[in-house]
Amino acid sequence: MKNKIEEYLKKVQEFHADNLEQLENFRIEYLSKKGKIPSLFADFRNVAPEERKEMGQLINSLKNAVQNKIVALKEALEQSSQSDGTDHDLTLPPNVTLGTRHPLSIVRNEIIEIFSRIGFSVSEGPEIEDDFHNFSALNFPPDHPARDMQDTFFIEKDPDIALRTHTSSVQIRVMENSKPPFRTVLPGRVFRNEAISARAHCIFHQVEGLVVDTDVSFADLKQTLFYFAKELFGENTKTRFRPSYFPFTEPSAEMDVSCNICGGKGCNICKYTGWVEILGCGMVDPFVLESCNIDSKKYTGFAFGMGIERITMLKYQINDLRLFFENDLRFLEQFKSAY
Ligand code: PHE
Repeated sequence: MKNKIEEYLKKVQEFHADNLEQLENFRIEYLSKKGKIPSLFADFRNVAPEERKEMGQLINSLKNAVQNKIVALKEALEQSSQSDGTDHDLTLPPNVTLGTRHPLSIVRNEIIEIFSRIGFSVSEGPEIEDDFHNFSALNFPPDHPARDMQDTFFIEKDPDIALRTHTSSVQIRVMENSKPPFRTVLPGRVFRNEAISARAHCIFHQVEGLVVDTDVSFADLKQTLFYFAKELFGENTKTRFRPSYFPFTEPSAEMDVSCNICGGKGCNICKYTGWVEILGCGMVDPFVLESCNIDSKKYTGFAFGMGIERITMLKYQINDLRLFFENDLRFLEQFKSAY
């Protein structure tokens, strides 16, 4: 009998269950009415009196071992069933989907790339600006409507501190901080207090450009922007300039490109005109140069500014500007690019 009990003990110690069913069979095998332990107790009646003490202790320790084993295995099995139950192969490469660049970043990088090929550097400046850099130095008269609370998010009044309404403020910082010649593009986020709609947002992105040198003419402006439009929208793109007004440029113009969707024949994107407006531009007003201590008799320059959202909408035929700000993966995943 002693041998039998020791053999059982060994088996119990070695026992391992893969699931609750195996564990239940183990319990039945040892503890059920007809199981091994009750039958040992039945045999115990025939044990010689001098061996009873030892045998009794052995059978009890076997019974305890079985009960402890059941409790421990049950706990372990229940814990592992709470995980997802799959066996993970840690040698497999992780299942990560590569992200894509935001369409606005793709187009911004492309614009910068096109200008960098003809010698433009990139300049950046603060999003929170004072009145001088955002307005005064750019020749906005004190009562100009663009300073109105309608358009500008003011942070402090007297002296005025505001979120910049255009990246032209960075033009002023560039001209203040170094000496001409300049040939630089100024990308950045700008803020205007406008109602959010399919065509407008209170936050949007611009790329402006500034060239200041001796003998810079309107012909240089036209040729630079003509090159840019062809690089961005394709070799067959045509451009036209319409007179316009900005306080900081004189003369000023707006540039249209032939509609990249219909090739100029007329469609609903270009409202059947064959042309779409993409930017404002002009010769830097001498007042602006003088505000930055640049001799306007010696130097001339041109500047231009465009909204990245608008260009991206034209390039990818996106009809609602709000999509850029919603971070919907179904939208964002459609953009893959080298930039
Ligand atoms: N700053 C102008 C705007 O925000 C764009 C512009 C820049 C126009 C430079 C002309 C020259 O709309």
